[in-house]
Amino acid sequence: MKNILVIYFTQSGQLNKAIEATLQNLQNDADVNIQYEQIQPQIPFPFPWTYMQFFDAFPETVLGIPCSLKPFSFNPDAPYDLIIIAYQPWFLSISQPINSFLQSTEAKKLLRNKPVITILACRNMWLNAQEKMKMHLKMLGANLVGNITFVDKSANLVSLITVFAFALGGVQDKFLGVFPKYGVSDDDLKVNAWKFGDIILYHLKKGDYTGQQEVLIANGAINIKSNLMLLEGRGKVFFPLYANYISKKGTAISQERQTRVRIFGIVLPTAILILSPIITVISRLAPLLFPKKIRKEINYFSNNTLR
Ligand SMILES: Cc1cc2nc3c(=O)[nH]c(=O)nc-3n(C[C@H](O)[C@H](O)[C@H](O)COP(=O)(O)O)c2cc1C
Repeated sequence: MKNILVIYFTQSGQLNKAIEATLQNLQNDADVNIQYEQIQPQIPFPFPWTYMQFFDAFPETVLGIPCSLKPFSFNPDAPYDLIIIAYQPWFLSISQPINSFLQSTEAKKLLRNKPVITILACRNMWLNAQEKMKMHLKMLGANLVGNITFVDKSANLVSLITVFAFALGGVQDKFLGVFPKYGVSDDDLKVNAWKFGDIILYHLKKGDYTGQQEVLIANGAINIKSNLMLLEGRGKVFFPLYANYISKKGTAISQERQTRVRIFGIVLPTAILILSPIITVISRLAPLLFPKKIRKEINYFSNNTLR
């Protein structure tokens, strides 16, 4: 019997759907036992968010400041064969609940020397969050053996609008009748996800994950676009600076920092709107000008090693 522990957090259930679709064949396998642990913050994050709640979560998320969590029900000393961490990026970083789990004493015990697979379901920008995940796992002595990503495949500016309608307005379907439904498409889950699960099942039974990520990549588990990679590169530099600037004024939700939070709430979407088309043009040229460099970067982010 192979024992898997799935650690996850989700607000709308999008990530749940991705986990279920991926693990369907493992779930039905008589030799596999899957335990699920939903990470629960002591004070739940709102969904839908108000505009101010949403942007106020930015500094602590980017700076990796943990929130209090409800007690876990898993046994951190149990001999799990595989740990799956399913999470979503928030502001190019790991969402606060999962980031807080990674900083817990239980995570230290649980993850040491264990193979870990990450599953992400998000808008389209996950590279920097996964770099942070790689760093946490390295510090915890875990062995990242696989990464699977599900993204919203609409154009970047379209999903920028629909993610705000979704997160701030709770819109779960087409927005204003014109914009597509936000999120990972049901088709992507139907067509591809089970294949990723079968790849995991094969390696789990073998007890050897060598070559697993290459097979996952070959089957479409990694979604990287060069324009978004370049856009994330800008955000990665700018975000910690602004997160510090806000948090210097006060702690989460405090009145003192509301003006800085409000300004950020205007600056961020505006910056994406302006930078996105410019970077898209640059990214069309970049593979022509620096083909090797772009290929090397995509290859790096597709894999599980840490620079
Ligand atoms: C506060 C916040 C920040 C987000 N930032 C990002 C981001 O940087 N990159 C991204 O691809 N998606 C981002 N998203 C979208 C989430 O990754 C995810 O798609 C969405 O929250 C739904 O996930 P869930 O319902 O499973 O929690 C963000 C969502 C929230 C709520």
